[in-house]
Parts: sequence; structure tokens; C-alpha cells
Amino acid sequence: MEKNKFYITTPLYYVNASPHIGHSYTTIAADCLSRFMRAQLGKDNVFFLTGTDEHGQKVQKAADAGGMSPQEFADQTVSHFKSLWEKLGISYDYFIRTTDKKHVDFVSRVLEIVYEKGDIYEDEYEGLYCTPCEAFWTKMQAGDSLCPDCKRPVELIKEKNYFFKLAKYQDWLIDHIKKNPEFIKPEIRRNEVLSFLSLNKLDDLCISRPKERLGWGIPLPFSSGHVTYVWFDALVNYISAVGDFNNKGEYSSRWWPADVQLIGKDILRQHAVYWPIMLKALGVELPKTIFAHGWWMLGDSKMSKSRGNVVNPLDMAEKYGIDTYRYFLLRDVPFGLDGNFSEEAIIKRYNSDLANDLGNLVYRTLTMIEKYYQGKIPEPGPRDEKTKEIYNKIASLPEKIKIALADYNFGLALEEIWALINLANKHVEETKPWNLAKENRAGELQSFIRLLADVIKKVSEVLYPFMPDTAEAIKAQFGETEIKKGKPLFPRIET
Ligand code: MSP
Repeated sequence: MEKNKFYITTPLYYVNASPHIGHSYTTIAADCLSRFMRAQLGKDNVFFLTGTDEHGQKVQKAADAGGMSPQEFADQTVSHFKSLWEKLGISYDYFIRTTDKKHVDFVSRVLEIVYEKGDIYEDEYEGLYCTPCEAFWTKMQAGDSLCPDCKRPVELIKEKNYFFKLAKYQDWLIDHIKKNPEFIKPEIRRNEVLSFLSLNKLDDLCISRPKERLGWGIPLPFSSGHVTYVWFDALVNYISAVGDFNNKGEYSSRWWPADVQLIGKDILRQHAVYWPIMLKALGVELPKTIFAHGWWMLGDSKMSKSRGNVVNPLDMAEKYGIDTYRYFLLRDVPFGLDGNFSEEAIIKRYNSDLANDLGNLVYRTLTMIEKYYQGKIPEPGPRDEKTKEIYNKIASLPEKIKIALADYNFGLALEEIWALINLANKHVEETKPWNLAKENRAGELQSFIRLLADVIKKVSEVLYPFMPDTAEAIKAQFGETEIKKGKPLFPRIET
């Protein structure tokens, strides 16, 4: 296994609907980390995987409703995802679709290996089934024999299915989570999984669906009457995209194990319970970290297609700019917690952090370089105590960001950058450079202006993973020796 590599994944998004803000959140966070790690390790040592989850009932249903085949439907939605990622500047290395032939063959192989090992067995499945919703419910969920969703009667169904032995690995998993504090993050999610595992006995997982009920899936290699349950298929993407089994069933990959798998907290159970057990059964290493972030909410409810309260990321990016949108998502809510989405909140962040703090620092510095030095960035001058203090802050900033991002704390990393921006702005107010100019204190003015230019260059460097276009725009305005003043980066939004 290579040490100097970084492999990061997002969930595979269902193609039953177009992407919304929630999907873009995970992907933007992954993009930011990938860009950051490329700068640390070199671009060839980072692998960023995203893609789409295309099989299963949800997609089949959406395709039926649209009068299309599931494959046609998936092709159509995939193009929306891809074009959104392109517009948002998402620098993924590979886009996997669960309908890719390589993935389909790989899943078959996984099933064969686990089946031969004896961890998949056939049994009778019994459950209360709601035909219109196409969903199974437990006795507890449908206590009154009515579907908890649509309130229509459910019927008891018995059918032959295949089960994956989760229960067998329960103690092993508890032990692994306890011994590896980094495995599930943040802490609150780790505790949630541990307490779930300690208080409940795991049921084995039903990993097949009879073809007559659901045709849209990967056929089970050992039963022609069944397809694979969508989660058993989709989770496998994280290894199918980056490696292969040899004929002895041993997996090898340049990238696996993943360094971090970003997910939303809605799919924690699948990633922190099913997935590690699948890997264990396959004899494949576990990912180092699974990080579950919180939800973007609209009012009191989670933004989701089924609730019909989704906001289109493209609308936001077009209205406020891609980098403003990225900045807002990564800055406004601590990664891991839920947050409320509103345009007022975007505008507030924009006007204060981007227009007032960053934009203002850049613009006033350019203006002074133009005015006092005819557009040439002055040489460094003598340094007083305050100046030295700010240079120390410049020097220590990259390490602070590294520490914050090692903990997936995007908000803190940005706060550190803004602390320097604000320090520089305060320094301008206190130094009153216009007086230095009037009083002919040339050495001080030179040192002061050079300091501001150095602050801005560092800011643009460290801002790159978060706001790539802005970083480039600043870089283009501050050359090695000369400036090229453009329009203000973030003109205030009047409300
Ligand atoms: N297809 C499965 C995942 C399979 S992974 C092998 C799935 N897809 S999904 O389209 O429903 O997307 C789920 C992911 O989208 C969440 O885990 C999260 O990353 C993101 N989000 C969806 N809605 C969200 C919010 N309202 N807020 C934040 N992120 C959310 O589940």
C-alpha cells in the first residue's frame, strides 16, 4: 500500500431526481479536500471518486413514471449531475456509474466470493408489504396493518431470498470501532453507531430481490430468479472503481483503502455497519475514516426530493457566483451539524466576509499600489513589531489550515484565513497609510504596502481549495512584481 496517497469518495447519488443542494454539499467538501491534498501530495497521488447509483426500485419507479426505460432515465439524470459538477468546478478523478460493465461484473464477483465463503445463504423472507409503495415494513412499523407511509393495508408476504451474515460479524465490528477512534467521525456519529450496535442484535441483511418484483438490478450469479439489493451493489463501487480481484479472490488496488469516505448522516448505517462487514467478509481492508456530515434544512425539514423542498444548486451558483456558493456551504455551518439554508444567509455572508473583508482588502491594496507605486509591488522595507507579528501570522497560516482540515473542519480553516484578512484590514485602519504618504514616511509606507501584498498572496494561495476561481482571480491581479487591477471581486449586494 502506498503511504503518500489520498483516496476520497462521495456517496453515489441516486438518479431518480436531479441534484439538489444536499448532494452538492458532500461533493464540494470532497472537492475542497482533494484540491488541498493535491497541493500537499502532488496531483498524481490524489484520487477523488464520485458517481451515480442507478439500480433499484427508486430509479425503476421514476423511470416508469417518466415513460422511459431505467437505463434511458439514468442516462438523462447522469448528464444533469455531470454538468452540475462541471459548473461547480468539481475536480473529480473518476465518475463511476453502477451500470458500468466493469462495476456490474465486479459486483457479481463480490457476490460469488462471499457466497463461496458461506456468508450468503438462502432463506424465507417474511414481511408486511405495501404494494402501491413497494415497501416492506416490520410488524412494529405497521402495527395496525396499515402502511406507515400511505395508510393503505399491507399484506404478509413470504418469499425466498438471500441473506448476508451481518450478525456473525457484530462483535468484530464493535471491537474495530472501539479500537479505531478515527473510523467513524464525528464523535457523535461514532457514539450513535456504537450504541446502536451494543443495544441491538443485528439481523442478517436481505441482499436479493425477486426478479418479478424488481427487474432493475444486477443478477445474482447463483440465482437466476433474483437481482442484488441496491445497497449491496452500490457500496461496492468504492472498491470496484479502483481495483480488481485476482483469480484467488484477493483484492489489490493502488488507492484502497479510502482515506476518507464522506457521506451524509442519512446513510450512516449502511456505511458504518453493512459496508465494513462486507469488506471483512471479502478479506479487504477497511476505509480509514467515514465522515458523516449533517443536513441542509429548509425550515424544520431536511431538504429532499421526497419532501419536495429542494433548491437547485445551479440557481444559487448563477445568482451569487460559484465561489460564493462554495464558501457559504463550507463556512456557514460546522461540517457535521445540520444547517438552515436561506438566501438571506448567503447574502449576509457575501456582504460581510466577501465584499467587506476580502474584497475590500484586495481592492484597497491594489488602489494604493497603483496610486503610490505606479502599479509596481514595492520591495520589502524595514519591519517594525506589528509588521513582524503579521508576517508570523502569514507563515503559520498553512499549518493552521492543515490542522483544521485534518479534522474536516472547513469552517475553522476559513476562520483562520479570515483572521489574517481581518488583521490586515485592521492594520490599514490603524496605520492610516494616506498619512504616511502625506508625511513622506516612504520607508514605512513601502514596508506597509508590501506587507499587504504578501498577506493577499498568501490568502489567495490558501483559499484555492475552497474558492478556486477567486484564488486565480487574485493571483492574476497580483503578479511577481506588478499588479493588474481589475473590477472589485465582490461588489456589495444591496438588499
Ligand atoms: N444512493 C445512495 C447512496 C449510495 S452510496 C454507495 C443515496 N443517494 S442520495 O441521492 O439519496 O444521496 C445521499 C447523499 O446526498 C447523502 O448521504 C448526502 O451526502 C447528500 N444529501 C442529500 N440530502 C441532503 C441534505 N438535505 N443535506 C445534506 N446532504 C444531503 O443515498
